[in-house]
Amino acid sequence: MVTGRTIAVTGSASGIGAAVAATLRADGATVIGVDLRDCDVVADLGTVAGRIAAVEEVRAQSGGRLDGLVACAGVGPDKPVALIAELDYFGTVDLLDGLADDLAAGTDPAATVIASHSATITPVPPDSESLVTKMIDAMLAGDRDAAVAAAEPLPGWLVYGMTKRALARAVRRRAPELGARGIRCNAVAPGAVDTPLLHDIEADPLLGPAAKALPVPISRMGTPEDVAALVRFTLGPEAAYLHGSVLYLDGGTDAVARPDDF
Ligand code: NAI
Repeated sequence: MVTGRTIAVTGSASGIGAAVAATLRADGATVIGVDLRDCDVVADLGTVAGRIAAVEEVRAQSGGRLDGLVACAGVGPDKPVALIAELDYFGTVDLLDGLADDLAAGTDPAATVIASHSATITPVPPDSESLVTKMIDAMLAGDRDAAVAAAEPLPGWLVYGMTKRALARAVRRRAPELGARGIRCNAVAPGAVDTPLLHDIEADPLLGPAAKALPVPISRMGTPEDVAALVRFTLGPEAAYLHGSVLYLDGGTDAVARPDDF
C-alpha cells in the first residue's frame, strides 16, 4: 500500500505512466504527474531546461518532501536517436538526481525507473561495440553531448537498448549512495506492453516484424496494469529490502534469450 504517500510520476499522460498514476491514486497516494500534457507539471524532459523546470515544479508542489518517484517518460526505438538518448536516459537520471534531496526528506522513500528487457536481449554488432561503449560511458559520466554524438551513427533499436542498459547501470551504481540516504531505487524492465509506444513500433516496417518475432512464453502482450502492479509493490513497505535490482516483467522473453545467464 502507498496510502498517504506523495509520489511523482513522469510520463503520466499515457501508457505505463498513466496506469502507474491511476494505480497509486486508487491506493490513496497523492500523485504529481509530469508530462508534456494532461498532467500536474508540464515539462519537456527531453531538454536540460525542461528537466530543471520539472524538478523545481515538483519541489514546489510537494513542498520539498517526496516519498516516491516513478520515471516512465520515454520514447521508443523508432524515434530519433538524439531524443532517445536525451529523454530515456537523461530525462530519467536527471530527475532522480535532481529530486534526491526531496526523496531523502520523505518517508521510506523509493524510486523506480522503467528500463526495458531490450537492455539485455539487444544484440550488439561487433562493428558497433566501441561506439556503444562510448555512448554508455558518456551517459554514466553525465556527458550529454558525448552521449548524443556517439549515438548519432547508430540505429534506433541499438541506441534504445543500450540507453536502457545504461539506465539499469545508473540505478545499480547509485545503490550505495542512495541506500545510505535511506532511498531505495530499482528498475523495472518490461517486455512488449500494449501502449501507444508499442503501437508505433509495430507499425514500423523494420522494427514491427522483429518485435512480433520475440518469443513470449506467457503468450500475450503485457498490459500497462501489469507494470503498474509491480511498480506499486516496489514503492511500498512489502519491498522494504528491495534495492538496486532490475526486475524483468516480460512474460519470460529474457529467460528464453539468456537462460543460463546466472
Ligand atoms: P507511451 O508513449 O504510452 O507513454 C510515454 C509518455 O512519455 C507519454 O505520456 C508522453 O507524452 C511522455 N513523454 C514523451 N516525451 C516526453 C518529453 N519530452 N517530456 C515529458 N514527457 C514525455 O509509452 P509507454 O509504453 O507507456 O512507455 C513508458 C516507458 O516504458 C518508456 O520509458 C518506455 O521506453 C518503457 N517501455 C515500454 C515498453 C512497451 O512495450 N510499451 C517496453 C519496455 C519499456
